[in-house]
Amino acid sequence: MTLLDSSPAMLDKARQRLQRLPAEVQRRVTLLQADGENADEAVGGQRFAAVLCHGVLGYLEQPGPLVDQLCRCAAPGGVVSIMTGNPKAAAVRPALERRWDDALASFDAKQGMGVLGLPGRDYTVEEVSELIQSRGVRPLDWYGVWLFVDWLDFSGAELDPTDAKQVEATAAVELEASRRDPYRHLSRVFHLVGRKGPA
Ligand SMILES: C[S@@+](CC[C@H](N)C(=O)[O-])C[C@H]1O[C@@H](n2cnc3c(N)ncnc32)[C@H](O)[C@@H]1O
Repeated sequence: MTLLDSSPAMLDKARQRLQRLPAEVQRRVTLLQADGENADEAVGGQRFAAVLCHGVLGYLEQPGPLVDQLCRCAAPGGVVSIMTGNPKAAAVRPALERRWDDALASFDAKQGMGVLGLPGRDYTVEEVSELIQSRGVRPLDWYGVWLFVDWLDFSGAELDPTDAKQVEATAAVELEASRRDPYRHLSRVFHLVGRKGPA
């Protein structure tokens, strides 16, 4: 597994977490500092069974060059997985935090706010699907990410991540909501999965 990020600070965090894992896992992971827009060159032309880009597109002015590299780095028949903010559900977070003016403004806003608290531009499922489709990756399906846990969290409920039984039950509900209408449309983040065509 190769983990590519443009930020040395974020890679340091990843390195610290990696050190908590067994040695045989650590050996399988390579950390690489580079811009995603130069991924193909940074990995030396290597092709991957799966290329994941989660929580990055929303920070970019132009997603095209990065998506181009994601699709290029996938092997023939490989999976491309993209997770990013869902602009159609932009009012959810400010509304649950009772920031009503922000919620109202968010309906037609072009800019959103990513999980790192930086302003960014979100792209719809249709826009990202078109971006990968035009680069030889067929969209397979898309899922909503974080629905009820977001609603609870933003409205101030205490969730206990150490309660394994509750976490398992919550995950089962989130999984069902993630793949059904109308729930998935209301998630703050979506996950699009596509498959690259044969060589
Ligand atoms: C919200 S974090 C997501 C991290 C990780 N993908 C995850 O799911 O936990 C966004 C990451 O994107 C990185 N990033 C932003 N723009 C980038 C770019 N053009 N190329 C590579 N990484 C970038 C940031 O440094 C940051 O580590």
